[in-house]
Amino acid sequence: MAKLFSPLQIGKISVKNRIVMPPMCLYKVSLDDGKPTKFHTDHYTARALGGVGLIIVEATAVLPEGRITNADLGLWSDEQVLAHKNLVDSLKFYDLKVGIQLAHAGRKSMCVDSTPLSSCEIKFDENYKTPKNMSLDEIDNFKQSFVSSAIKAQKAGYDLIEIHAAHGYLLNQFLSKKLNQRDDKYKDGSLLLKEILTQVKANVSCAVGVRLSATTYQSDDYGLDECVKLCVELEKTGADFLHISSGGVYANPDISLKIAPLYQAEFAKAVKKAVKIPVIAVGLIKTGSEGEALLLGDVCDLVAYGRELLKEPNLAYKMASELNEKSLIENSYQRAF
Ligand SMILES: Cc1cc2nc3c(=O)[nH]c(=O)nc-3n(C[C@H](O)[C@H](O)[C@H](O)COP(=O)(O)O)c2cc1C
Repeated sequence: MAKLFSPLQIGKISVKNRIVMPPMCLYKVSLDDGKPTKFHTDHYTARALGGVGLIIVEATAVLPEGRITNADLGLWSDEQVLAHKNLVDSLKFYDLKVGIQLAHAGRKSMCVDSTPLSSCEIKFDENYKTPKNMSLDEIDNFKQSFVSSAIKAQKAGYDLIEIHAAHGYLLNQFLSKKLNQRDDKYKDGSLLLKEILTQVKANVSCAVGVRLSATTYQSDDYGLDECVKLCVELEKTGADFLHISSGGVYANPDISLKIAPLYQAEFAKAVKKAVKIPVIAVGLIKTGSEGEALLLGDVCDLVAYGRELLKEPNLAYKMASELNEKSLIENSYQRAF
C-alpha cells in the first residue's frame, strides 16, 4: 500500500491515512459570535467525504480579542461548544479524525474594538494597531483561556488540538528574539508555549501538538537551528505531533522567501531527524507522488495539502488513483477515476 494511505498513531488517536487538511481561515463567521456556520459545515464535510484522514479546523480564537478579524471562529463560551459540536458531528459521519487549531492573534489582530496584546509594543505594519505588551495578569488570563478552550474543544468532540505558535501570531511573537521585549521570566518566550502545552495536556486526553514557523526569514531573529532545539523541548514537554511551517513574523523580512514546490519540506526534515513524534510537512505540496516521496524519504510522517484541497475536495481520491490505490476511492465516485 502507498504510505500516503497507511494509518498512523498520533498520541492516543489513529488516523486512517497521512493526508492532512491544514488549518485555513474562511473568515465566514456571520454574527461576530465565533460560531461555525452552515458554510463551515458544508466546506469541511466536503473534504471529510473526500477522504482526508485528518482535518484541522482553521485558527479558532481562545479569547474575543485574540481573533484575527471579527469573522473568525472562537471557542471561549458554552454556546460556541454546541455550534462546534454540530460541525464535528457532521464531519464524523465520515471515517476521519478532526482537529482544531487554537490561536491568539496577538499584534496581528485586526479586531475593531480591542487593543491587540503582544510581547512588545511594535506594530506589524502600518495597517495594524500598536499592541500592548502584556501584563503578568493578562498572560495568566491568556493561559487559562487557552486551557479552557482546549477543554471545550474536547467537549465538542475534537480528536486533536493544534496550538498555533506559527505565522507571527501571539505565541510566535513571544518566540521571536526581536518581538519579545520582555524583561521577566517570559523573556524566554518558549516558557509560555511550554506552560500552555503542559497545562493543555494535563486537562485533555486528545492528541495535542504545536504548529511552528521554522524560520522568521529575518537575519537577526531565530532560524531553523533554534526551531529544531525548541521542537526537541516540546517533545519532552509532551507534544504528540509537530506541524512545520515558516514565516509570517515580519511584514517585510530581510531574507527573500523563495516560494517553490515543497519549499518548507527541508524544515520538516530537519525536525523529523531530531524527534520521534509525528511531523507534518506543508507548503506547496500538490500531488500524491510528491507526498509519497516525502514520506518514503523520511521528510515527514503526514502531508498537509492546503490550497490544493480548497480547489479540489476530492483530492485524496485523485491521489489514490494516481498512486494505484483505486480501491480506496469512495464507491459512488469510482467511475470518475
Ligand atoms: C485561505 C488560507 C487561510 C489560512 N489560514 C490559516 C490558519 O488559520 N492557520 C494557519 O496556521 N495557517 C493558515 N494558512 C496557511 C495554511 O495552513 C498552509 O500552511 C499554507 O496554505 C501552505 O500550504 P499549501 O501550499 O498546501 O496551501 C492559511 C492559508 C490559506 C491559503
